[in-house]
Amino acid sequence: MRVELQAVVDELKRWRDAGQESVYLQPGTLEAIQAKVAEIRAAASPDTLPENQRREVEPAFQAKHGPTPTRRPRIKQDAELIKNFIKEAEKSPGSAPAKKKVAKKAVQKGQGLPPGVKEIPAPTEFELPGGDKQTQWDWLRDKVLSDEVCNEHLRPTKKVVFGVGNLDADIFFCGEAPGEDEEIQGEPFVGKAGQLLDKIIGAMGVKREQTYIGNIMNWRPEHDKPFGNRAPVEAEINYCLPYLIGQLEIVKPKVIVALGLTAANGLLGYDPERRMGKVRGQWLEFSGVPLIITYHPSYLLRNQTNHSKRLVWEDMLLAMEKVGLPISDKQRGFFKG
Ligand code: URA
Repeated sequence: MRVELQAVVDELKRWRDAGQESVYLQPGTLEAIQAKVAEIRAAASPDTLPENQRREVEPAFQAKHGPTPTRRPRIKQDAELIKNFIKEAEKSPGSAPAKKKVAKKAVQKGQGLPPGVKEIPAPTEFELPGGDKQTQWDWLRDKVLSDEVCNEHLRPTKKVVFGVGNLDADIFFCGEAPGEDEEIQGEPFVGKAGQLLDKIIGAMGVKREQTYIGNIMNWRPEHDKPFGNRAPVEAEINYCLPYLIGQLEIVKPKVIVALGLTAANGLLGYDPERRMGKVRGQWLEFSGVPLIITYHPSYLLRNQTNHSKRLVWEDMLLAMEKVGLPISDKQRGFFKG
């Protein structure tokens, strides 16, 4: 159960980091989780508890104060809920989250990578060769695909992922990192999130092949869970960033659309305090290229509300306007009302 609980916590953290500020819980779900956490905590010996939690299971405390009051479960559909929930799970002594905290402390001086993951060196410096766009792109692709650091972080049989698309594209979509499908196929956005991105691009009246699609990261960040993805740490982002910049220099798009907070952090500089709600929907700039940040398609897959779709669509309308794509009344009206 601890493994499952840890997986839930990790996923919630990812959502929070991606800008999600609320979750919908079916009636009873939170109570069930809290009951499980309480069970794990109660099963732990008092000695394994941190000082400030021992009283909850100490008979002397209970004799004096009576049974430990069970907290009334709260169901709040706001950021507090995620925060509290994560805190709850992390309090569970001896559980995976508690161990993870220790591990985190141990690597705090380092790069914040999970245990066992090789440290990331400083990024490679390079200059694009002369020649036309295709020549430059082929050179850079070869360089990235044969990059030692990218390759040593791959799981066996998996692939380094480089950008794809039209080298004269007006719109450059920049994602986060390859996921499971992408590391198998060696192409960005080919899994579920990619299918949704294709739909969004289609709704803009454009084909995927007319755009350019890249990622901040060229490999899928390793983690020790049997499923899911890990958000890249700053050192990983910094290592891959020059390769993304190289692609931007070659394509010279009119607009960059950053998909998700990791992409935003890569392009604007890492800021753990950055929140999607604050940065989306407005024109920013990267190296003189207009930049719009929007929610990642994976976020939309988890939040299939009209509101989320509308926000992303509003950002796409801005991008369309910027590159001079025609916008019909029907397109303007998508998700309205
Ligand atoms: N998510 C991303 O950010 N990039 C991909 O290539 C796939 C999923």
